[in-house]
Amino acid sequence: MNIPQSGLSKQEILATLQAFKAHDMDWQGGKVFGYTYSPNADSAEVMKEAYLAFLTENGLDPTVFPSLLKLETDVVRMVINLLHGDANAVGHLTSGGTESIMLAVKTARDKARAEKPQITQPEMILPKTAHAAFHKAAHYLSVKPVVVDIDPATFKVCAEDMERAINENTILLIASAPSYAQGVIDPIAEIGVVAQKHNLLFHVDACVGGIHLSFMRKLGYEIPDFDFMVPGVTSLSCDLHKYGYAAKGCSTVLYRSKAIRKYQIFACTDTTGYTLINPTMLSSKSGGPYAGAWAILNFLGEEGYKQIVQTVQSAAQKLMDGVSAIPELRVLGQPAMCMFSFASDSLNVYQLADEMAKRGWYLQGQFSTPLTPRNLHISVSFGNAHSVEALLKDLRECVEIVKAKEPIDSDAIKMLIGAALQSPDPEAAFAQLAVSAGLAGTELPSEMAFINEVMDNLPDPICNMFLINFFNDLYV
Ligand SMILES: Cc1ncc(COP(=O)(O)O)c(C=O)c1O
Repeated sequence: MNIPQSGLSKQEILATLQAFKAHDMDWQGGKVFGYTYSPNADSAEVMKEAYLAFLTENGLDPTVFPSLLKLETDVVRMVINLLHGDANAVGHLTSGGTESIMLAVKTARDKARAEKPQITQPEMILPKTAHAAFHKAAHYLSVKPVVVDIDPATFKVCAEDMERAINENTILLIASAPSYAQGVIDPIAEIGVVAQKHNLLFHVDACVGGIHLSFMRKLGYEIPDFDFMVPGVTSLSCDLHKYGYAAKGCSTVLYRSKAIRKYQIFACTDTTGYTLINPTMLSSKSGGPYAGAWAILNFLGEEGYKQIVQTVQSAAQKLMDGVSAIPELRVLGQPAMCMFSFASDSLNVYQLADEMAKRGWYLQGQFSTPLTPRNLHISVSFGNAHSVEALLKDLRECVEIVKAKEPIDSDAIKMLIGAALQSPDPEAAFAQLAVSAGLAGTELPSEMAFINEVMDNLPDPICNMFLINFFNDLYV
C-alpha cells in the first residue's frame, strides 16, 4: 500500500477502519476472556474523552507540560496508597506491564553495578510461573534468569527453593501477585523475609492483581499481604490498563524509596541535541494514557471499583464452579481472584478452544511444562462477567463435541519432531514442519489445535524459533 495521492474523506477513513475490525473477536459482546478489560459505558465514555483531551500532549518534558507531571504524580500516588506505600514510596507511569517490569530489572541491575561492581554476570531468581516479560527483560538487559520450579499442585513457588538459588551474583528476587497463568499468589511474605535476610531487592509483579486484589481486601476477602505491607518488598508493578480498567498504555512501577528509584532514571547531555532526561523507556509519549487513567480512577472512585470487583468475583466463582462440575475438566491450583486455568486428563483442550472459537469465544491455550499440564486460561473481567452462564453452556456442549471427535495423533507429531531433530538440516526440517502445521506465510491460522499440539511437543528453543519465524513472515 502507498500513501494515497490525495487524502481520503473522513467518512471513507472511518468506514474503512471499522471494516478492518470485521474479523476481530467479539470483545464488546463479552466473549473474549483475556486481552481487554472494559468498564461500563459511562466510565468508558469519560475515559475516552479524557484520553483524547491529552492525546497530543507529550510526556517527554514536564517543564513544557506540567499538566502531565500532575496527572502522573496523582495516579502514581493513588496506586501507592492502595498498595500501602508510605510517604517515601515513589513511582512512574509506564506504557504497560512489560515496561514496568523491564524498568524494575534495569533498576536492580544498575544499582548492583554501582554498589556491587564485583558482579559481572548479575542474576535474578524467578518462579516458573513469572510472566515472560521477566525473560524479555533478562534478554534485553543481560541479566541471567534463574528459574525456580513451582509446586505442581498449588502452582506457587516455595520461599526455601528461592533461597537455595541465591548466590554471590544474585541481584533480585521476583514473585507474582498473582501469576497470570493460574492466578495464584506466591508466598510474598516468606520471600520478603528471604530478601531481607540476604539484603536483596525483591520485586512483586502485581500487574494484574494490584488493583483488583486491593479492592477484594477492602471488601473483606481474605487476601495474603502482597504489597509494600511486606517489609522485604522493594518494588511493585501494577497495571492500570488491566483491572484498573484504564485505556491501554498505562501501568505503574513503584519503589519503596527514591534511593532505589534513582537507578531507573536515564539522562544524556552528550549530543548536540536537547537535554534528554527519561525516567522510563519511552521518551516522547502521548498524555492520553495518563489522562485516561486519572479519569477512570476519579470517575469510578472506591465505590465504583468495589462494585466492579464484587460483580467480577461472583461471575468468576460461578465459572470456576461450573468448569469444576464438568467431569472432564479440572481447575488448576486455587486461584486468588478472577483469573484461572483448567486442564483435562481425557480430552485435548486445544481442540476444545477451537470448538469454542467457532462459537465466538476466546479461551487462551497455554503450554505444558515438565511439571504442569497443558491448559486453557480464562480472565474474567467486568466486560465479560455477564456472559459466564452462556460460556458454560457452550463449554459443556463443546466438551461433548470434542469427545466425539478424532483426537490429534500426538505420537505421530512426536515422531515428526524427532525426525526433524535428527535431520542433517534441522532448520529446513522445522521450517517444513511449520508449513504443515499451518504456522507459516502471511495468513493467520483459522484453527489452532494442531499448531498448539506441535508447539507443545517442541523443545522450548525450537518452539521460540517457530514463533519468531511466524511473525517474521506475517508482518510484511
Ligand atoms: C502478571 C503479569 N505481568 C506482566 C504482564 C505484562 O503486561 P503487558 O501486557 O501490559 O505488558 C502481564 C500481562 O498479562 C501479566 O499478566
